[in-house]
Amino acid sequence: MIWENKIATTLQWSSEISNLEAKQKVARKMAERVKDGDVIGIGSGSTSFLALQEISKKVKQEQLNVLAIPTSHEVSLTCSILGMPTSTLLNARPDWAFDGADEVDPQKSLIKGRGGAMFAEKIVMKSCEENYILVDPSKFVTYLGEKFAVPIEVDPRAVNLVETELARLHATDISLRMAVSKDGPVITETGNLILDVRFKEIPTSFEKEIKAIPGVIETGLFIGYPIEVLST
Ligand code: 5RP
Repeated sequence: MIWENKIATTLQWSSEISNLEAKQKVARKMAERVKDGDVIGIGSGSTSFLALQEISKKVKQEQLNVLAIPTSHEVSLTCSILGMPTSTLLNARPDWAFDGADEVDPQKSLIKGRGGAMFAEKIVMKSCEENYILVDPSKFVTYLGEKFAVPIEVDPRAVNLVETELARLHATDISLRMAVSKDGPVITETGNLILDVRFKEIPTSFEKEIKAIPGVIETGLFIGYPIEVLST
């Protein structure tokens, strides 16, 4: 019963997705690149979800053998619902990977992590040489931080320390990400908290500088990665 409900809600999620048409177009573009035998890193978020659905359709129609490396439990479950075999980075290396983004600047640097999965997403991105970022046109910005705060995953024991250190980096606003129900903070898959942080500006050194603060697990800054951006 729980499983059937999960299948129903996951597959109906599409109706709630913003910019659905543009995201669907880019998802189809991604699916065109799938070949027999590919090992594919699967990002999180709604655009990745749509791409995964398109890929799964193609895999079934053309009877391809494809192995997925998911970046979250949610994606893993979706793969299972769609009948797509999965593995982990311990057993397989992706030939290529795709993912979404919240912001893409003119240098193709990114803010990611509205879904809170940036820790696993960065590990998968770094594990393969061919990375596609799938975005609808609303994601293009002139500078990072124009629309979104930077998500930072933090060990709960280090929250006060990280807050102090972020103030030193001139953070202008720091908020603890709360669950949709508002009855507690979001807890990541690895048991950590997420701070959504605004800065006056985001120099390219920030990805490394923030990561160097003890207690920071990962940031949603993806600066200077060799990626290909696919859009409509
Ligand atoms: C999740 C992410 C997502 O890829 C990002 O938030 C974009 O999401 P969407 O495709 O739903 O707009 O980084 O951690």
